[in-house]
Amino acid sequence: MATTPRYTHWHFDRDEGDIVWLSIDKADSAVNVLSAAVFAEFDAILTVLETASPRGLVIQSAKRSGFIAGADVGEFTDFADEPAALAAIRTGQALFDRLEALACTSVCLIQGYCLGAGLELALACDVRVVDDSAATRLGLPEVRLGIHPGFGGSLRMIRTVGPLAGLDAMLTGRTLSARAARKIGLVDYAVPERHLRHAAQQILQRPPRRRPLPWLKRAPNHSLLRPLFARLIRRKLAAKAPRAHYPAPYALLELWVRHGDKPKRMLREEATSVARLLTGRTAQNLIRVFQLQEQLKAQGKRTDKTVDPASSGRARHVHVIGGGVMGGDIAAWCALQGLYVTVQEQRKEALARVLQRGHALFKKRLKGRLLVQAAMDRLIPDERGTGLGHADVVIEAIFEDVEAKQKLFREIEPKLREHTLVATNTSSIPLQVLATALHRPQRLVGLHFFNPVASMQLVEVVNGPDTDPDSALRAAAFTRQIARLPLPVTSTPGFLVNRILMPYLMEAMILADEGVPLRLIDKAATDFGMPMGPIELADTVGLDICLSVADILAADMAIEVPKRLRDLVQAGRTGRKSGRGFYEFKRAKPVKPAVPHRYTAPADVQDRLMLRQLNEAVACLRDGVVENADLLDAGVIFGTGFAPFRGGPLHYIHCRGSRQLTQMLEGLQQRHGERFAPDAGWSQLVDEDTGSDIPDTTPATGSGQVEENG
Ligand code: NAI
Repeated sequence: MATTPRYTHWHFDRDEGDIVWLSIDKADSAVNVLSAAVFAEFDAILTVLETASPRGLVIQSAKRSGFIAGADVGEFTDFADEPAALAAIRTGQALFDRLEALACTSVCLIQGYCLGAGLELALACDVRVVDDSAATRLGLPEVRLGIHPGFGGSLRMIRTVGPLAGLDAMLTGRTLSARAARKIGLVDYAVPERHLRHAAQQILQRPPRRRPLPWLKRAPNHSLLRPLFARLIRRKLAAKAPRAHYPAPYALLELWVRHGDKPKRMLREEATSVARLLTGRTAQNLIRVFQLQEQLKAQGKRTDKTVDPASSGRARHVHVIGGGVMGGDIAAWCALQGLYVTVQEQRKEALARVLQRGHALFKKRLKGRLLVQAAMDRLIPDERGTGLGHADVVIEAIFEDVEAKQKLFREIEPKLREHTLVATNTSSIPLQVLATALHRPQRLVGLHFFNPVASMQLVEVVNGPDTDPDSALRAAAFTRQIARLPLPVTSTPGFLVNRILMPYLMEAMILADEGVPLRLIDKAATDFGMPMGPIELADTVGLDICLSVADILAADMAIEVPKRLRDLVQAGRTGRKSGRGFYEFKRAKPVKPAVPHRYTAPADVQDRLMLRQLNEAVACLRDGVVENADLLDAGVIFGTGFAPFRGGPLHYIHCRGSRQLTQMLEGLQQRHGERFAPDAGWSQLVDEDTGSDIPDTTPATGSGQVEENG
């Protein structure tokens, strides 16, 4: 028998039954991604398989972390131009075509993540078998990066599961469990992990005959029906993401409508479409957002310090003090993530509500009664604070009151273990003020969660002047442990997110005071790409909370607190939670009054809203609130929903040209006052891109998404 070929990223074993076991194992990487180097070796492997065809081929992963997480996103930004991107895509496509055309039966064994190009590879195999555990996730999430599948995946997904299920998976980019994938026919078998190998052997002994999809699933692919279905789908898409901001889903739909019954043509056009999207600004910015997210995740990795030398390095027990809006949700979230959580709360009824809310969250997120019960068992009411002496991390989330918090810290410190990390969820009190109550102030950090905790991914990790670097790193690592994104910030008023958000919200309220219809104010922001307008956002956060944060920030920043906000709060109109705020709410949705007939809004509404945010972003960078511009962009995108397809406020400034924006600010300063005075930081910005292709205003209304789905 020929010698076994050796590769850097693949293991190639031909067994005595003439079956090739091909295991992907990308060198120097914890996860498998399909990079150019991995593809190059795959090309050579295919040549071997084509030259001396084995009886069967099994493709699997040699890594415990999963099958393949996708293509190497880092290489997506390297293409010089569209033709270069097209050439690379065609190369990948051709490889998967060759895999599909192999003379032998190919079986793909999938455990863990099988995403993007990884699933495209699996789709080019004859049979797919998945591990039936909860760790298995399959999907084609390319739309989240502003593209769609490009290695034949669009065609093969539709061919395998039918156009409606296939398009739904690709247009939403959501991932599927083993069970869901089996149900729609994306995979052929779901078996326990330990049976995967045996399943492949069985399949190769008697390869199954491919049966065509049932008629009902194939029918929407008929040339007469495709345009009808496409119209319905397009309408749904438009309600979520406008074409002007997010072109990829529309391009995929177009591809299907035009070429859905001509496979060769569809493959050709798929590549052209992805090359065009990939080199466009939206995709490049969304890829940037993906990379920024990775940077945030890395913040939690910079330490190998343990939470407690005696423990495994991961926190096991969290003690939360204060079971109100935030404390209750933080506690439930930590329990959902597998931690043992004690909740100390002085009011019995609040404690009961924590358990109720926890139960609702677990029921929504966990499959099966047993898992829900196990999570409930981890969420423990602790009126007397017995958990304090055992916790790895203590999170304080009581009233926003300096004296109450200081008193609490004085009381609890003697009961804590030496290595316990002490965190406060304060949104406005400087850490140095709270630290005075502690004998060991260096262990105090801020962990500033956002409301609602379960859907806001960002947590600001606040470093006070006394915080020691080790505590800050442990806080970031803890944030990662509970599947949130840590953003290190300094303890300055409003930290990063509230400081940037407040001037924008206040400007919206000033516009409302001036008589601009609320609906138009919100629309100006969503037209820019914000997920929700500022008036609706203020109502959603709670006007009382906005007022208290604004009052605190007003002392340090050029913020006028609009009278209308104060009046509404005084009248008990606190927003969605009270059913009335700026808007009236029906079934938790705002009822937005129609714009009066013939009303024309001032031309600068959008500029006023967005430039106040941008100006504050520049000020935060100058003040060093975060370490660098990338982290600032990441924080603002994940904390405020800043239009993801624009790549973050500072990136947007560079694309648009800082000089032009400074001039716009000066114009607004003349017309509307000093709050628009350009920050001193603008002069330090260097334009990276003056040949902007971003129009001054964008036409459609829409919603970017940075909140976590499902
Ligand atoms: P909340 O008023 O809903 O809850 C505070 C809870 O703490 C109450 O249930 C109260 O009974 C309890 N409490 C007060 N003193 C206590 C003590 N000594 N021992 C045990 N329990 C005690 O307040 P919320 O909104 O949850 O805010 C808590 C903290 O989170 C504040 O520092 C606030 O600035 C911060 N925060 C609030 C956000 C929000 O959107 N509500 C967002 C981010 C941070």
